[in-house]
Amino acid sequence: MAVAFSLILPSASAQATIVHASRAPGANHLQPMIASSPLPTPAAVPVATPDALRAQLRRRGQLKGRQPDDASRAEVRSLIGNGPHRRDQLIEHLHALNDAHRGLWERHLVALAAEMRLSMAEVFEVASFYHHFEVLREGDTPAALTVRVCDGLSCAMAGAQALLAKLPAILGRDVRVIPAPCVGRCEQAPVAVVGQSPVLLADVASVQNACKAGATTHPAARDEGAFDPAAVAPCVITASPQDVAPAYVGYAAYRAQGGYALATAVQADAQITETVLKAMEDSGLRGLGGAGFPAGRKWRIVREQPAPRLMAVNIDEGEPGTFKDRTYLERDPHRFLEGLLVAAQVVDTAAVFIYLRDEYHGARAILAAELARLQAEPPFPLPHIELRRGAGAYICGEESAMIESIEGKRGEPRLRPPYIAQVGLFGRPTLEHNFETLYWVRDIVQRGPAWFSGFGRNGRTGLRSFSVSGRVQQPGVKLAPAGITLRELVDEYCGGMVEGHTLYAYLPGGASGGILPASLADAPLDFDTLQPHGSFIGSAAVVVLSEADSARDAALNAMRFFAHESCGQCTPCRVGTEKASALMAQPGDWDALTLEDLAVVMTDASICGLGQAAPNPMRCVLKYFPHEVQAAGAKAST
Ligand SMILES: Cc1cc2nc3c(=O)[nH]c(=O)nc-3n(C[C@H](O)[C@H](O)[C@H](O)COP(=O)(O)O)c2cc1C
Ligand code: SF4
Ligand code: FES
Repeated sequence: MAVAFSLILPSASAQATIVHASRAPGANHLQPMIASSPLPTPAAVPVATPDALRAQLRRRGQLKGRQPDDASRAEVRSLIGNGPHRRDQLIEHLHALNDAHRGLWERHLVALAAEMRLSMAEVFEVASFYHHFEVLREGDTPAALTVRVCDGLSCAMAGAQALLAKLPAILGRDVRVIPAPCVGRCEQAPVAVVGQSPVLLADVASVQNACKAGATTHPAARDEGAFDPAAVAPCVITASPQDVAPAYVGYAAYRAQGGYALATAVQADAQITETVLKAMEDSGLRGLGGAGFPAGRKWRIVREQPAPRLMAVNIDEGEPGTFKDRTYLERDPHRFLEGLLVAAQVVDTAAVFIYLRDEYHGARAILAAELARLQAEPPFPLPHIELRRGAGAYICGEESAMIESIEGKRGEPRLRPPYIAQVGLFGRPTLEHNFETLYWVRDIVQRGPAWFSGFGRNGRTGLRSFSVSGRVQQPGVKLAPAGITLRELVDEYCGGMVEGHTLYAYLPGGASGGILPASLADAPLDFDTLQPHGSFIGSAAVVVLSEADSARDAALNAMRFFAHESCGQCTPCRVGTEKASALMAQPGDWDALTLEDLAVVMTDASICGLGQAAPNPMRCVLKYFPHEVQAAGAKAST
C-alpha cells in the first residue's frame, strides 16, 4: 500500500506538471499541429508553464524576495518537523502555525515557503484565501481571543445581530468579536464560538462567562454512547436543548455490536463486492451532499476507471442550515468509517482523504481518536486514510474545490469535463462522497436494500435526514421518510410551530435551495420534487419562518453569504452576488429587472453550483412574496 500511495503523491514539481497537463489538454496537441503546418517551421520555442518556471527557479536557487531568518525557520520546523514536506500538506502546516501563533506572521510564511521549497506567492495565495487564516505583519497585534458570532439565517432570526452589537463593548479590547457564516449548530441558535468552544443558545451573559472562564477549547466527549438510528427509523435524532459534546459509540462498543463484520467480509471475499454494489443500487440511495447522484452508480463508474483510484470524503457541511453530518459523526463515528471502508474495497481505492470543516473541533477530536484506535487494532489491513482540516471556506464543499484544497491549494472549483470520477485528486479517478451517504452503507447492506427503499411518502422512497431549525418547538435532525411534506415534518417531528407563531415560509435546502411560501407546505420534500417551484432540497436543511419573519431579509442574508463565500474565480458570481446584495439591501422597492438580469447571468455563466444557485432565494421572493418588496417600496416612497 505504501508503494502505491507514494506513486500517487508525486514531488512538488512533478505534481505541478500533472495538474497543468490535466487543466490544459490543448497544450499536448501543440507539437503535432506545428509539425503538420505547411509554413516554414519556426525555431523551437519551449512552451513553459508558470508551474514549470517556478520549479526551474527553485532548482537554480534564484527565488527572489524576502529571505527567511534563522529564528523563524526554527519556529516553523519545531511545528512541522524537518521534512521533506509534501506540497499537499501546506494547509495543515498553515493550521499548525495559525494555532500556535494566533495568526500567520509574514516571517513564518517566508520560512514555511523555504522549508516546503515553494515560492512565497504560492504560500501567500493559499494563506490569504481561507477565512480562518489571518496574515499578520510586523507591528500587528493579534487578538488574545476571538469570538465568532454566527450571523446565518437561523441565528439572525434568534438575535445574532443584537449579540454582535453588544458583545464588543462588554468583552473589552482584548477580545475580537466578528460575525461568522453558519457554524453548523443552527438548532441551538444563536451560536457564538469562543476560541474553539461553541456557546449554544448564546446570550451576552453566557458568552461573557465563557470568556472569563477561559473556556476556549471544545469540551471532550465521552466514549460511552449508544446510538443505532436504523433500528428505530424513522425517528427524531435530536431535539432541543443539545449537549455540546454528546456521548458517542467508541471502537470497542461498535465492534461488540457486530461493527466491521461487513467490511471484514468484503475484504475476505472479493465476490461479495458485486452483492454490495447491487444492494446499493437497489436501495436507491442517492448522494446526500446535495446533488443526489445515485451512490451505487457512482461506485460503478469510478470502479471502471484505471487504477490507482482515490476516495475523498466530504464533511465540509457548509450549507447554512445543515448540521446532520456533525450530529451523526459526534454520536456514531464508526458506522461512517465502516461505510467508508466498504466503499474503498468495492471501488478498490488506494487511499482515502477525509475533509472535515474547521468549525467542527469536537468532531475532529473524536474522528482523530477513533481513527487511531481503528488503525492500532485493525480488523483487516486498512487503506491509507488521512484526516484533513478545512479552513473556513464554504466553497470547499464543492467537490472539485475540495480536491484542490486537499492538494494544498486555494479552494477554486475546476472546470468540467474532465469530471473528478475520471481526473480528480492528484489527477487520479476519485470517488467523492458526502459523510451521510457512507453512513448508511452498513445498514443498507446488512438490513437489505428493501429496508431503505421501504420508507417514503407521496410516491417517494428512502430516508432523509432533515436538519430543521427556525420557528419550530423542537429543532434538530429528523430522520424522516423521503417525500414527507413540510407541514408533516413540523407537526410530526418538531412538535409544531413555536407558541404564538404561524407558518409563513420555509427554506427546504439551506441558502441555495430557495424560499417557499406556506401555501406550498404540502409539497413532498425530496430530490426532483421542488424544481417546478424554483427550489430544491439539496442537503435537506429546512429553515422554518413564521409571520414574525421576512422572506426578503432571508434572501438578503443568503445573498450576502454567497457574496462572502464566492471564490472570485468567475465574474458572474463574484460581481453578481456583490451587486445583487447591494441592490437587495436598498430600503425601497427591489429593482426586479436588474436583479433578474443578474440572476440569468449568474445561473447561465457561473462555473460552479455556488454562483448558479445564488439567485434562488431572491427569485423566490420576487415570485412568492412580492408584497414584501412592494410594501418596502411603498414605505420608502412615503
Ligand atoms: C457550493 C457547493 C457547496 C457544497 N457543499 C457541500 C458540503 O458541504 N458537503 C457535501 O457533502 N457536499 C457539498 N456539495 C456537493 C458536492 O459538490 C458533491 O456533490 C458531494 O460531496 C458528492 O457526494 P454525494 O454523492 O455523497 O452527495 C456542495 C456543492 C456545491 C456546488
Ligand atoms: S461560481 Fe462563484 S464560487 Fe463557483 S467558481 Fe465561480 S466565482 Fe467561484
Ligand atoms: S449555526 Fe447559525 S445559522 Fe447555522
